[in-house]
Amino acid sequence: MPLLLNRNDVISVLTMKDCMKVVEKAFAELSNGTAVLPLRIGITPPDGLALYMPAYLKEMGALACKVVTVYKNNPSKYDLPTTIGKVLLQDPETGNVICIMDGGYLTAIRTGAASGVATCLLARKEDGQTAGIYGAGVQAKMQLWAVAEARKLSKALVYDVSAEAASKFAEEMSKKLNLNIIAVSDADMLTDCDIICTATSSPTPLFDGTKIKKGAHINGIGSHTPNARELDTEIIKRSKFIGDSKEACFKEAGDIMIPIAEGAISAEHFYAELGEIITGKRNGRIHNDEITIFKSNGLAIQDVATAKLIYDKAIEAGIGTMIDI
Ligand SMILES: NC(=O)c1ccc[n+]([C@@H]2O[C@H](COP(=O)([O-])OP(=O)(O)OC[C@H]3O[C@@H](n4cnc5c(N)ncnc54)[C@H](O)[C@@H]3O)[C@@H](O)[C@H]2O)c1
Repeated sequence: MPLLLNRNDVISVLTMKDCMKVVEKAFAELSNGTAVLPLRIGITPPDGLALYMPAYLKEMGALACKVVTVYKNNPSKYDLPTTIGKVLLQDPETGNVICIMDGGYLTAIRTGAASGVATCLLARKEDGQTAGIYGAGVQAKMQLWAVAEARKLSKALVYDVSAEAASKFAEEMSKKLNLNIIAVSDADMLTDCDIICTATSSPTPLFDGTKIKKGAHINGIGSHTPNARELDTEIIKRSKFIGDSKEACFKEAGDIMIPIAEGAISAEHFYAELGEIITGKRNGRIHNDEITIFKSNGLAIQDVATAKLIYDKAIEAGIGTMIDI
């Protein structure tokens, strides 16, 4: 019988630290050729977008498919969230569905976890760095949580076009992480930070790339269409560019596709996939003056690894509801 796990069940067993470990393994599998990652399938019914994201991780023994929908009129018309996600986890030996779980919290944590892994590998090593977070939404919170797992921070600055969202973020996250978090009213104030995360819904660049200081590391997770970008051409030109997947970056990431189309850089500017850094096939940061960028588009391998982790933890803790289908 499949196990049913609701959002609270998922929250009760999933930590950022554990998620970073399995997400790192998933990227290593992708690089080593033991992951199966078909392109996600998108269907556009009249009012929304439905995405089907399957993957299989052979070493981890994890097989799953996430179904995510984005329906902009849901809140006003049906009192439902814009984005809804569920994951079907299967037994790779029999194909049987062993678990159905909520995918909202899972998506946010696994997205944070990828940036956490990238920060561990690419940011300067020393403690006491300052984080700068663009955006104060769901993803932005998880970005800061993951960065705080990767490095002992001295403080964090957050900027959002909604000053109210930024100050709520600072209040909530400073308690959660026991960290000094300052909501700022000027986007430029973050350009002096050591570790920067961009997690907004903006389709246009968030800062002037000439202002970012040497040695910074940037996690760019927001934009994911060819015509949208959070990072400008200048910062891409100045940086060592690492992506979650080369294929996804060249299909979905305006952050690198636009500078290539402008002729400002060539496709060779894409330095490595995250999995190549994890497995030691390519060097990460080689000196303290280098600027590094991790561009995340979001891959099904992250969902599958995280879903397997959640299932194993839930079985161990004896939570959830068995259902007869
Ligand atoms: N890479 C991945 O794997 C992945 C996964 C999930 C979501 N995302 C993307 O992450 C982004 C954020 O998602 P979310 O769920 O947190 O959304 P959200 O709507 O909760 O938050 C987005 C925030 O960005 C702010 N914002 C918009 N323009 C801004 C600007 N110019 N400067 C500063 N702040 C600005 C908004 O006011 C809002 O508070 C979206 O683009 C989403 O598609 C990426």
